Amino acid sequence: MIRVGETDRVFVLTGAGISAESGIPTFRDSNGLWCGHSIEDVATPEAWRRNPALVWEFYAMRRKDAAPCQPNPAHKALAELEAKMGDRLTLCTQNVDDLHEKAGSKSVLHMHGWLFRSRCERCEKPQPDANAYASLDAVPRCPCDAKGKAMLRPDIVWFGEMPFFLDAIQDALQRTNIFVCVGSSGVVEPAASFARMARSFNRAKTYYVGPEKPANDFMFDECFTGKAGELLPGLLQSH
Ligand code: OAD
Repeated sequence: MIRVGETDRVFVLTGAGISAESGIPTFRDSNGLWCGHSIEDVATPEAWRRNPALVWEFYAMRRKDAAPCQPNPAHKALAELEAKMGDRLTLCTQNVDDLHEKAGSKSVLHMHGWLFRSRCERCEKPQPDANAYASLDAVPRCPCDAKGKAMLRPDIVWFGEMPFFLDAIQDALQRTNIFVCVGSSGVVEPAASFARMARSFNRAKTYYVGPEKPANDFMFDECFTGKAGELLPGLLQSH
């Protein structure tokens, strides 16, 4: 159990593992592959320039698969923690699904973007996804371009792009004294270094929750081995 006192500040980083029990496969489960393409080949700015229809279809399918999924007890435990702790909790996720929100979390830093929103590649204006499930040949266009050439791209951080909310994340890591990572393999930067940063900024205690040790396990004071949905409810006891 992790005791959270009245003045403690908690930073929770979630990865694909927290959504596994809700039916969304982790990147590791899929061996980093989609229909024979490596995920790096469909999740980069280069892939978008080369073949936007393929990239759009990849995300359209991910939206379709994720839309009916429901939050599990791990997402709900974090929403309940936020209700108790307010802004002393920072919830940051590498996931692009909406399961934290469906569980009731109000403030979530989606550092790798959001599956259910697009933005214009030219004017950057975000667009809710009217054409979310459109497939090949149907990459929607932004009205900002009268010639109809400005495409809407998924509002996702691709490999080689800068994650969102880095200032807010650094600010929160500087103030946190309890850092908890849930279900992330610890190989993708910069998130893989957040535990080390929390330790060095503020001597935070660092914890990991997941069925196996992550690649960055040396950054954690303690690893709780098991499924997030089984371990997280009751793990963080706040007052
Ligand atoms: P990974 O797929 O790399 O790792 C998922 C982790 O979840 C593994 O370490 C599993 O052991 C763990 N896991 C599996 N089932 C679990 C469960 N029931 N409870 C808890 N943990 C469980 O996913 P991430 O580390 O999130 O980036 O991947 C990080 C980033 O790499 C992603 O955000 C994505 C990807 O490429 C971008 O798209 C930019």
